[in-house]
Amino acid sequence: MASRFTPALRAAAAARVAARRQVVPAMRRGFASEAPKSGSSNGLLIGGLAAAAVAGGAYYFLATDATPKERLMEVETAGKEAGAVAEAALHMKRKPEDYQKVYNRIAEKLEADDYDDGSHGPVLIRLAWHSSGTYNKEDGSGGSNYATMRFKPESEHGANNGLKIARELLEPIKQEFPWISYGDLWTLAGVCAVQEAQGPKVPWRPGRIDGYDHNCTPDGRLPDGAKAQDHLREIFYRMGFNDQEIVALCGAHAMGRCHTDRSGFDGPWTFSPTTFTNDYYRLLFDEKWSWRKWNGPAQFTDSKTKSLMMLPADMSLTKDKEFKKHAKAYAADADLFFKDFANVFNKLIELGVPTAQFQSDAYTLKTLDEQS
Ligand code: HEM
Repeated sequence: MASRFTPALRAAAAARVAARRQVVPAMRRGFASEAPKSGSSNGLLIGGLAAAAVAGGAYYFLATDATPKERLMEVETAGKEAGAVAEAALHMKRKPEDYQKVYNRIAEKLEADDYDDGSHGPVLIRLAWHSSGTYNKEDGSGGSNYATMRFKPESEHGANNGLKIARELLEPIKQEFPWISYGDLWTLAGVCAVQEAQGPKVPWRPGRIDGYDHNCTPDGRLPDGAKAQDHLREIFYRMGFNDQEIVALCGAHAMGRCHTDRSGFDGPWTFSPTTFTNDYYRLLFDEKWSWRKWNGPAQFTDSKTKSLMMLPADMSLTKDKEFKKHAKAYAADADLFFKDFANVFNKLIELGVPTAQFQSDAYTLKTLDEQS
């Protein structure tokens, strides 16, 4: 079908919208007045990124049978996205110190005597993970780029129960540092929570942009704790992880607990749920686990103290031959687990972010202890 809106027209319109709505206000806020990085041209870069965003939209535009009004809305949307990408590019001039300041603010909020086991760390790790783990490598949808858990329906997906606490905890930090995107803030919070709990240093790069509700992913992309290895492979292979990486990621369950009013499951995985250790794997093999007798969903409890828990999904790490090999290795070698976890967590929180959006090398941020 012939159309008045060629990709070129669309790109031009989008760029105009972007310039009017995003780039100019960003300059007024002062970002553009800072000295450009040597050897790089912001103008070119921003133009290139914006063009990439518009080109991405052009495919959709041509492929749909939309009405003129819908097409105009599409042009607007593409423009906003181009603007957001351009704004992200402007943030490349933020220095590591700026992110260290945000990190420190998050770190100051971790300790909480009146919450769970005394730390907000675990729920922040879960926010970083659930905002990234929606990624689908087949079509590039989902992942941490657009922070779509801010919007319905994703905020109301059953898997995300309880994560409002984490989002609200970080909101004042977003207000204090409005230049950081939600995706960057949430993933940085995950990194901060791991590091402050004596976990490994996780390299982190800024560059995620805020999206819109139409970027929300469908329900059902995150794993179901009641299921075992076949399900885990289906879910994590979709994100692009292999068996070793799946097992390394699960070690995050050294931290935190299940809540009956969130997932229905109950209890912590380890005796030290606010410290990042390889205890999750050690306990999986060292303890005797039996089905808990209770009215809740099927879960395991340790026979000795009956105070710990494992999900059927966790237990599959001891049952599946390939999973078991890696879980045993992590139980025996905490350094190996720390090294592999840092790599795979970094990969997780970058899912869905176009490489062009990352405008700096990864930063290794300092813990509060290291700065004192
Ligand atoms: C293997 C698949 C996974 C399943 C089935 C699963 C399932 C669950 C469930 C049911 C909860 C309890 C939620 C609640 O009731 O509050 C939970 C909590 C948690 N998960 Fe996972 N999870 C998986 C993978 C991961 C990964 C990959 C990470 C991070 C890398 C992670 C980090 C956490 C953390 C830190 C908590 C504790 C949250 C809190 O204390 O509030 N999980 N997970």
